[in-house]
Amino acid sequence: MAYDVEDVRRQFPGLAREHSGMPVAFLDNPAGTQVPRLVVDRMADAMLHTNSNLGGFFDTSVEAGERVAAAHRAAAALVNADETGEVFFGQNMTTLTFAMSRSIGALLKEGDEIVLSRMDHDANISPWLMLAEDKGLVVRWLEFSPETFEFDLADLRALMNGRTRLVAVCYASNITGTINDIAAISAIAHEAGALVYVDAVQYAPHGLIDVKALGCDFLVCSAYKFFGPHYGVFWGRRDVLDRLRPYKVRPASNDVPWRFTTGTTNREALAGVHAAIDYIASLSRFEDGVPAAAGLRDKLAAGFRVMKQHDDILTQRLIDGLKPFNRVRILGITDPAAIARRVSTVSFFVDELPSADLVKSMAGEGIQVWSGHNYGLEPNRALGILDRGSGVRVGPVHYNTVGEIDRVVDAVGRALG
Ligand SMILES: Cc1ncc(COP(=O)(O)O)c(C=O)c1O
Repeated sequence: MAYDVEDVRRQFPGLAREHSGMPVAFLDNPAGTQVPRLVVDRMADAMLHTNSNLGGFFDTSVEAGERVAAAHRAAAALVNADETGEVFFGQNMTTLTFAMSRSIGALLKEGDEIVLSRMDHDANISPWLMLAEDKGLVVRWLEFSPETFEFDLADLRALMNGRTRLVAVCYASNITGTINDIAAISAIAHEAGALVYVDAVQYAPHGLIDVKALGCDFLVCSAYKFFGPHYGVFWGRRDVLDRLRPYKVRPASNDVPWRFTTGTTNREALAGVHAAIDYIASLSRFEDGVPAAAGLRDKLAAGFRVMKQHDDILTQRLIDGLKPFNRVRILGITDPAAIARRVSTVSFFVDELPSADLVKSMAGEGIQVWSGHNYGLEPNRALGILDRGSGVRVGPVHYNTVGEIDRVVDAVGRALG
């Protein structure tokens, strides 16, 4: 069946909003996507019908437990984990990373080295900087090129030595949209004996994650970026998780993954994460040849292919529309031949036109986009725009339309005069 964006949009009540009689173009998706009705229905159902403590003998508890186990299986399928024990959940990526950095930090000692990336959101920087401060670790920085918006992995090799214990890096940038070669980064880090911690928050809405192929040790993402509720998803390689010290209360289980799950889990959010995963799998209906009886992982692969195909059309149209404006500097890969190395997040900076003024005037036309550093302090500083208001970020996903992209380009054109 051919892709039908209007059919998709009908599932997202939030997209029906109007502003002064104009349909709203919601393009602030890198900050959090809209949610299909299925997600909210499943969350409501969890609260209305299986709202119970886990592990009891009575029906409500048994059913609640079954739903939680099913959500763990779905999340394991999402990242291609070996087993459900490798996956757990928490408030959001930032909270999970602060917590897990303490457990990982218990393996480190003064003088050990960690590698952080200039491309990362602060949620994959501050927890490690604070750990370094607490433990006397040496911090080394992996720079990216402000011209190509990519790393040179020779730089990573040069940073590694016998004392390197961890490399923390994003799978995709929330500013430039660059997708990093995590498999290659993992291979370099592992050769030196370092663990690899991957922030997949901005990749997860756009591509199928395969932790086995990536070869990393930890990977974390957030469901509100992929059509789900505000809840973080954590994956850790079992043999590494087994070595970590959990910071937990004494009566809590010592088994993985529960020993890393502090307090009562947010079961309604878990139901929503599961539903968001099912939603992505349901997009496989637009790809011919996916049998209805296919497994969840196969349907997810097809669903992501469907989304990526549409994402790429919108991304290229946006880039092609912005390129002719010579005051506009696109802060990411623009070569159509390299589109596989970026997600659809397109940031740009306009000389002598404050980004905040531009997005404010766009908001007046019902175009919902963001300006500012988006917690990407390091990348914005590296791009030379941190103290100049940073850029404008436009992040289309599969429910956005070509018409919405054209509205953005027209609005920029008008603002430039
Ligand atoms: C790349 C990246 N990492 C981490 C985060 C933080 O995620 P959370 O809000 O789940 O803590 C964000 C949020 O925008 C992000 O874009």
